[in-house]
Amino acid sequence: MSEKCLLAIETSCDETSAAVVTFDREIKSNIVLSQDVIHAPFGGVVPELASRQHLKTILPVIEEALRRAGIGLEEIEAFAVTQGPGLIGSLLVGVCFARSLAYYYHRPLIGVDHLHAHIESVFLNNPDIPFPSLALIVSGGHTSLFYLPQRLSYLLLGRTRDDAAGEALDKVAKFLNLGYPGGPIIERLAREGNPEAFPFAVPRMKDNSLDFSFSGLKTAALRYIRENRLQAPSPQLKDFLASFEKAIVDSLLFNLSKALSGYQAESVLLCGGVARNCRLRSSFLRFGEEMGIKVYLPLPEFCTDNAAMVGALAAEIIRQKKSFSSPLSLEAYARFSAGLE
Ligand code: KG4
Ligand code: ZN
Repeated sequence: MSEKCLLAIETSCDETSAAVVTFDREIKSNIVLSQDVIHAPFGGVVPELASRQHLKTILPVIEEALRRAGIGLEEIEAFAVTQGPGLIGSLLVGVCFARSLAYYYHRPLIGVDHLHAHIESVFLNNPDIPFPSLALIVSGGHTSLFYLPQRLSYLLLGRTRDDAAGEALDKVAKFLNLGYPGGPIIERLAREGNPEAFPFAVPRMKDNSLDFSFSGLKTAALRYIRENRLQAPSPQLKDFLASFEKAIVDSLLFNLSKALSGYQAESVLLCGGVARNCRLRSSFLRFGEEMGIKVYLPLPEFCTDNAAMVGALAAEIIRQKKSFSSPLSLEAYARFSAGLE
């Protein structure tokens, strides 16, 4: 292969993923192996099971990514890996693997922040986004709002103080025995429901902060289900889930409009697993029209965790930065890294 390629690895939670991406950010392959069936009986990710499963699947996933791209490991010019935040046991599998490969093949290793990689997923199908920009990441582990004065520059403005939005969806689905992951299941049921039927209080911070909070809304939902013995499949449940989903969407957009009144931005980006949700996507596009601001979304398949977004971000980092530290000094981190916020 004449183009320079890198191999990217993502194992921050419960997807084992590897991608081959050119230095010009073209995705040659992107293999995502989900562990949903393993965690479904528990209604959520079991960290110990997740890391053990990554250990079993990382090699075949990498081999498949290389095979589909038609490239050998010895031809790879750089390696990239998600460093954090995420489940530490899961992250360590990807980080140790990537470190070993980079060390053995004498290639640079680029450590990538998971949240920055989610933001990068928006650039895959929208290369010309104007800056400064606001970026909202909504996933199972995170609900975070960033200000990007320019490319590769991230300032954290707010994040959830308790549950992430996807986590609240997953926990309500678990309580109702609907299955895991709960977000897409709730979306399917909510599609036939009336979002105005249940007057959920939309979570809003009382202070000036741009933080989020979803545990109050989740607890109110769980209490209502218990007290009213709500069960699937009932028309009332579909209305209930549509209203719950809408309250989450309204809360996210409320914070975005608050951020827009305090920060001058030319564009707003939405990403993360929950950005697959149709109600959120259409409400976000409408929000852009109403606010008179350009809004951008990733393609649905790049919303949930994948190595293509890690590879694309690494390619951009390589373009802007010429020297890299030793692969052996790259460490995984479970929570936000102060230096990266
Ligand atoms: O980004 P992601 O793959 O992992 C994290 O970084 O956390 O996001 C997973 C989350 C889960 O909470 C899942 O329920 C949610 O994304 N999700 C959805 C949809 N697809 C995935 N939530 C609502 N609607 C969807 N269609
Ligand atoms: Zn993620």
